[in-house]
Amino acid sequence: MQLVVDQVSKVFGVGRSASCVLEDISFSVNSGEFVALVGSSGCGKSTLMRLVAGLDHPSAGVVTVDGQPVRGPGSDRGMVFQKYSLYPWLTAAQNVAFGMELQGLSRPEIRERTGYFLEVVGLADAARRRPREISGGMQQRVAIARALAAQPKILLLDEPFGALDLQIRESMQEFLHGLWQRTGLSALLITHDLEEALLLAQRVHIMAPRPGRIVRSVQVDLDHGNMAHLRVSPPFLALREELATCLRGMEPALA
Ligand SMILES: Nc1ncnc2c1ncn2[C@@H]1O[C@H](COP(=O)(O)OP(=O)(O)OP(=O)(O)O)[C@@H](O)[C@H]1O
Ligand SMILES: [Mg+2]
Repeated sequence: MQLVVDQVSKVFGVGRSASCVLEDISFSVNSGEFVALVGSSGCGKSTLMRLVAGLDHPSAGVVTVDGQPVRGPGSDRGMVFQKYSLYPWLTAAQNVAFGMELQGLSRPEIRERTGYFLEVVGLADAARRRPREISGGMQQRVAIARALAAQPKILLLDEPFGALDLQIRESMQEFLHGLWQRTGLSALLITHDLEEALLLAQRVHIMAPRPGRIVRSVQVDLDHGNMAHLRVSPPFLALREELATCLRGMEPALA
């Protein structure tokens, strides 16, 4: 699997009202790689994710998966959004099964895969509960199970833990990291949380706003094995501080 974003730009509007939201974005995600993009609110992260997901088209440049240009949404890319996107009237299991039903899989296969992926996200016991009956963190795990169940080549995560409080957010980060280690999935994470990006990704790209562009790319060669330890380790804190300074430098000064 290889996802390539090649010199992608996005302009909304025409003429005098045209605004360039993304400018010349290039990066790639290889098989088994976890890549994160970090940028402040409004710098074009979700716009970029929509282009990768095929929900919108670039004004220039191209997004490819295994060399094939992305022309629309596809089951090769599994999306998880910031806001809980589960169907409230369906149980956790039915939510996970939903995408597979659209794919036309057989009933026994859907049942087996639903059970398996609920197990993967540690929610086998919650299979028959509805979204309002489980916590926000559990809902996001159902959303991740639903995305994984369609067996995508890559998982696309747009601020997946943004709506969760700090403690749950930290346990979800550990969960996602463990999942990545166990399954070898390829993932693209978009977040405004620098720490989250550095904890999870092997490669981190820093975005600047207006127009959204990549200004810095780093390889995170740290031992991600023990996340609680990593969070407070000196090399991690030094890298975080260095990149935070880079991010702060791009914020417009408050008058
Ligand atoms: N369909 C659209 N038409 C016009 N402008 C748009 C459209 N979609 C997004 N924009 C503009 O593009 C900019 C980037 O928006 P986007 O949602 O991609 O940012 P973001 O980085 O995801 O922000 P956040 O962190 O708040 O989610 C914003 O200024 C927004 O107003
Ligand atoms: Mg966004």
